[in-house]
Order: sequence, then structure tokens, then C-alpha cells
Amino acid sequence: MYPIWEVPNLTAGIILALIATFHILPSHFSTSAMWFNVYVETKAYRENRPELLEFIKRYSLLLLVFSYVLGSLSGIGIWYAATVANPRGISGLIHNYVWGWATEWVFFIIEVTGIFIYYYTLGKVDKKTHLKIGWIFAIGSWTTMVIIVGILSFMLSPGKWPETGNFFDGFFNQTYWSQLLMRTTLMFGISAAYAIAVATRIKNEDVKAFITKTASKWGIAGIILGSILLLWYLKTLPARPHELISILAPKTLKTGMIVTAGLLILYFIYAGMKPLSIRLIPAILAIVVIFGGIWSTERIREMIRKPYVISQYMYSNQIIGKAIPAKAVAAEANVINEKGILKVAPFVPEGLKEVNDANALQAGKMIARIECLSCHTLNERGLRPMPQMVKRLEFKKEVEKAKEVEEIEAFLDGLGGYPYMPPFMGTPAEKMALATYLDSLAIIK
Ligand code: HEC
Repeated sequence: MYPIWEVPNLTAGIILALIATFHILPSHFSTSAMWFNVYVETKAYRENRPELLEFIKRYSLLLLVFSYVLGSLSGIGIWYAATVANPRGISGLIHNYVWGWATEWVFFIIEVTGIFIYYYTLGKVDKKTHLKIGWIFAIGSWTTMVIIVGILSFMLSPGKWPETGNFFDGFFNQTYWSQLLMRTTLMFGISAAYAIAVATRIKNEDVKAFITKTASKWGIAGIILGSILLLWYLKTLPARPHELISILAPKTLKTGMIVTAGLLILYFIYAGMKPLSIRLIPAILAIVVIFGGIWSTERIREMIRKPYVISQYMYSNQIIGKAIPAKAVAAEANVINEKGILKVAPFVPEGLKEVNDANALQAGKMIARIECLSCHTLNERGLRPMPQMVKRLEFKKEVEKAKEVEEIEAFLDGLGGYPYMPPFMGTPAEKMALATYLDSLAIIK
């Protein structure tokens, strides 16, 4: 546990979610765009339609700028935000998957250099060589997805890893294949939307119509197959996330996913029927709709990982919940309950390490920051605001004033009984301090 990153009204997690959702737009574009390019380029050479190369030039430039400037920046943004939001979570991942990332970065270098080579050699080297460069990029880029999905899916469903500690047991877990195939099909829907946006800028009507029609087919296929694979993905989820979808995921997010898929299919059908009528603004709006859909899906994926940041291992608040004997990692509940969270957490100011009458409120706030902040803001607004949460507890209405703190302590005793919250950990004095602080939140308007 490290210094705390408190983001009032939002939480650090939401900052991370915003960056990560944005990152999917350039990253999934980069893994899919070149397949489309290679297809169009092959067609251009086989059918002797050199005018199609104008699309390739523009589409590759968009890929270069959007994916390899904004995509790279937001990718680093994810690392940066995750490192301050949940340093121990990132550390846990790195300790297991450093070679996974190292391998990914090898392919990432192929992508980053590949796009420049592809763009700047178009028309300057012979056709066969240029197509080969395209293929190398397409396969290299998709391989980064093949690797990162292993690490991402591990966080939600670690497979046999908690028993064996084995790299591949965690990597090829029960949701790996369904998630990889789902992203692989959906990415074609994403690149199709970009292709149509680029086609709106092309004057030659034959090229414009051809690209828009082709992209609309890729788009419809990608979204429909992706939606079917999403259902398979849901089937492969372990029991707890499955349960949490029904308890936690708000209707708006579920509706968001379905509406996004529906709107996009209608848009692609329309584009396929009237390819010349699509203008740039609606084409950009389609990409905004995709952003909304990704936001809904990613938020749900994040919610159902609760109470863990790495399932069956580390809680969202960075406390190690379950021992991993194969990795010689011990669970921390016993030591925290015995010594106190304020003593175990290394960045607690001197005056707060021991709870006494004078510092109870402040010590309570410190404990809330350590144990609750990853999922609740402590002010009135934002993500599951703690004052509202405490008020919501039914006993607030019935219990007399003098008994409130006691009742909150009883609630803290039962915290681990919620399927989405880690248990409270700390000494009885710390529990009392936290309860005092929580009670004070509910009074302040
Ligand atoms: C892993 C995430 C997570 C952590 C950590 C967490 N909570 Fe929660 N908490 C939730 C979720 C999710 C809900 C349900 C919110 C909802 O229903 O909208 C919730 C609900 C609550 C509620 C309302 C309970 C009810 O029955 O309606 C209270 C009170 C609460 N949390 C207090 C705490 C306290 C105190 C801590 C720290 C000791 C804490 N939470 C830590 C995720 C978390």
C-alpha cells in the first residue's frame, strides 16, 4: 500500500476507466485496420484499380496519427494512472506477467515501425513487398491483442493460477478464448466505422462507394458476430462475476450495450445501401456511439471483478485477500487484524498510527481512504458516495443517535458478507474509529 490518490467526485478508478475506454478506440483500430487495408490493396492490384490506393494512403495516415500518437499516449496514460491508482495491483500483475508484456512490446515495436514503413513506402516499393509489409503489420498488431487479453482476462478469471501460480494457467484461463474472439470480431466493426469516415473525404465516387459498401459488410459481420461471442463470453464467466452482473450492473449500462449494437447495425445497413450519402459528421457520431458502447461494456467488466483487483488474490483496496502458496504470498487479514491497518500500511502519518480519543475521526478517515476509497468517494458526489451509502443503511432511520456508531461497527463486521465488498480489516479500536468517521459523514449535509 502506497500513498493514496484521492480524486474527489470521481475516484481514481473512474479516471483510469476514462483513459482505458478512450484507448480502445485507437488500439482496436490499430489491430484491425491493416486487415482492411490489405484486403483493399490486394483488390486494387488484382483488379487493376490504382485509384483505391488513395483510400489506403488516407486510412493509413489516420492510423498512424490516431493510433500511434493518441493511442500510444493513452496507453502510457493507462500505465501511469493504474500505477498511482492501484500500485500494488500493477505490481502483482508485473510480478506474474512481466514476460507477457515484454513479448507484447516486441510486437508493439513491429507495429510502431511497421506503420511508418507501410505508409511511406506506398507506391515506392513493388506491390508484393508492400503487401508483405501490410501482412506483417496486421499479424504483429493482432498478436499484441492475443497477449494482452491473456493478462486482462486473468484479472477477472485467474483459472488454475491461484493453486499453481503458473504463468500459462492464469493466461489461458476460462474466459481467454471467448474474450479474444469477441474482441477480434468487434475490432472489425470499429475499423469499419473509421473506414467509412475516411471514405467521406474521398472525391472519387467509385472509390467512396466501394469502400463504404465493403466497410458496411465488415461492420455488420463484426458487430453481429461480436454480439454472439459476447453471449458466449458471459457463459464462460465464473460464478461470482455472473452473480454480480445481476446485482450491480445498472440497467443504463446494459441498455447502453444493446442500443450501441443496434444503432451501429442500422448505420452500417444504411451506409451499405446509400454509400454516397454518408457525411463526415454522422460518420464521426458513429464512432462516438462506439465509445458509449465500450464505456458500458468496460464499466460492467470492471464492476464484476469486485471485490478484487486481481480475482481470488488481491482486493481492490490492495490488501491481499487470499494466499497464493505457489508464489509464497501470504494473506494479510490476520496480521492486519492483529497489528492494525494503520500500523501495517506504510504511509500513515506518525500521529495516526495509534487510535486514541483525540484522533479517532482523523484515524477513521485514514482507514476509509485505505480500505474504501478504491470503490467509494468520501464526499457527497461521484462514485457510490460514502455519505449516501451510510445514510442508506436502513438502521439510520430507526436507530437512536447514541447507538449509531455501534450499529455501523456491526455493519463493518458483516462487510465481507456482501459479494462485492472486501471484509473490514483492523483492530477493534480501528473499527470504532472508522465507524465514528462514517457516522460523521452521514450527519454532514
Ligand atoms: C471493491 C469495492 C468496494 C470496496 C473496497 C468497498 N465497497 Fe462499499 N460498496 C461497494 C459496492 C459495489 C456497493 C453497492 C453500491 C450500490 O448498491 O449502488 C457498496 C455499498 C456500500 C454501502 C451501502 C450498503 C447497503 O447495504 O446499501 C456502504 C455503507 C458501504 N459500501 C461502505 C463501505 C465501507 C465502509 C468500505 C471500506 C471499509 C467499503 N464500502 C469498501 C463496493 C465497495
